[in-house]
Amino acid sequence: MAYRLAVEGIHKYFGEFQALKNISFDIEPGKFVTLLGPSGCGKTTLLRVIAGFLEPDGGRVIFGGRVMNEVPPNKRNTAMCFQSYALFPHKTVFENICFGLRMRKIPAAKLTSMAEEAMNMVDLNGLGDRKPYELSGGQQQRVALARAVVVRPDILLFDEPLSNLDAKLREKVRVDIRNLQRSLGITTVYVTHDQAEALAISDVIIAMNKGEIVQISDPRSIYDAPKTKFVASFIGTANIVKSRCTFAGPGYARVECPYGEFTIPVTGISAGSEQYICIRPEDMQLITTDEGQNQSANVLSGRIVHAVYMGNTVDLFVEVNDQIVRASVAKDYHIKEGAWVSFAVAGEEIRIVED
Ligand SMILES: Nc1ncnc2c1ncn2[C@@H]1O[C@H](COP(=O)(O)OP(=O)(O)O)[C@@H](O)[C@H]1O
Ligand SMILES: [Mg+2]
Repeated sequence: MAYRLAVEGIHKYFGEFQALKNISFDIEPGKFVTLLGPSGCGKTTLLRVIAGFLEPDGGRVIFGGRVMNEVPPNKRNTAMCFQSYALFPHKTVFENICFGLRMRKIPAAKLTSMAEEAMNMVDLNGLGDRKPYELSGGQQQRVALARAVVVRPDILLFDEPLSNLDAKLREKVRVDIRNLQRSLGITTVYVTHDQAEALAISDVIIAMNKGEIVQISDPRSIYDAPKTKFVASFIGTANIVKSRCTFAGPGYARVECPYGEFTIPVTGISAGSEQYICIRPEDMQLITTDEGQNQSANVLSGRIVHAVYMGNTVDLFVEVNDQIVRASVAKDYHIKEGAWVSFAVAGEEIRIVED
């Protein structure tokens, strides 16, 4: 059965250093939630608090309505998968997978069928007698996955499980993880610093920075409506610049900034106020390569300082009033460095973000 997972007001100190600051969230049963943030922001610490390996200095961990703070890790019925796989090198695949079942004193007959079912789920049939060193990285990670799910945990925890795999395999194994999690319906907390992985795999993303939660949203909303400069630039690429509101009308506002003048469908800002605006590179529509400063609203013009061929797109770095603005254009544009370009940006694509 899937558990609701909640943490309330978690604080954690290492000496003077506060690694977790008032962390709270509430995850519906069976959801796949990702803790996303740069290295050192506290993701592993939070995962260890949830698993019970670390005691928080304040706050509560709650599984399915039950406060777990006093429950030791081996009684929490969680299972964790690590980057390093943490397999027993001298045990066979089968014995690695059976380890947790033996700890739980599952009878031999049942143990074999449970282990075989788990191996089947992760496509390891026929490899039960191998040792970990006789497997590829991807297969080793699948052994770790089978070992985690075979005990039928209430909460499944992953700490950067794909970091040791090459890019192609990472994409494949993350689909395997997601499919397995969906079919088992186990509430899952997944840690990564890779924003693309988080967007691809999650029901909910919890963005963290410096020990704090900065935003909790589904992948689409966190990308389309980042709340802060940090989230906008950590998840995807963003041009962020300070602007000043010159006019606030009903349902729209006009702002000016080093990129130019923009009309944005937004309420709640007043003339004279300052705010940061964010424009995604893919939201810049190339309108002309004719020379000359374009003064129209919602248009940026400048000279290309770099053009980087990306395969599926060409990324242009454009100098606009001493700022470098990044724009993605279709791969069949053959635009040279030094050329003059103008882009239009739809008002709806311009986001206001907090500092
Ligand atoms: N046992 C520890 N003792 C002291 N500091 C620690 C300990 N564990 C983690 N930290 C510090 O806490 C911060 C968060 O670490 P961690 O949770 O591992 O980050 P992440 O997993 O997001 O990279 C880091 O600054 C790290 O150096
Ligand atoms: Mg970590």
